[in-house]
Amino acid sequence: MFKHDSTTATTVEIVLDGQTIAVPGEMSVAAALLAVGKIISRISPTSKKPCSPHCLMGVCFECLMEIDGIRRQACMTPVKQGMIINRHLEEGEAGVGVGVAAGVGVEVGGQS
Ligand code: FES
Repeated sequence: MFKHDSTTATTVEIVLDGQTIAVPGEMSVAAALLAVGKIISRISPTSKKPCSPHCLMGVCFECLMEIDGIRRQACMTPVKQGMIINRHLEEGEAGVGVGVAAGVGVEVGGQS
């Protein structure tokens, strides 16, 4: 589905759901995860079904995930070495309200 041009890319290591993985650098978290086949971003709080990033430009919010302790749009967040990302797929935890209730901050838009 997605192919990555490995001739120009750097690789960074991130911790995804407690597991260290290597992903392409110099792109958004959402794009980096899609590039390595991690297509599920969260579980819908209403349908309880898995969601994947749709727009990749900050509109749909389907890519919300906990990135370094803050619920962020993965498509608007540049991937960086050592990031800790939790999707909470096993808990069905997703969405802004649940993130706030669990003590996880929410950030909308890009990371500066
Ligand atoms: S994929 Fe739509 S907001 Fe991130």
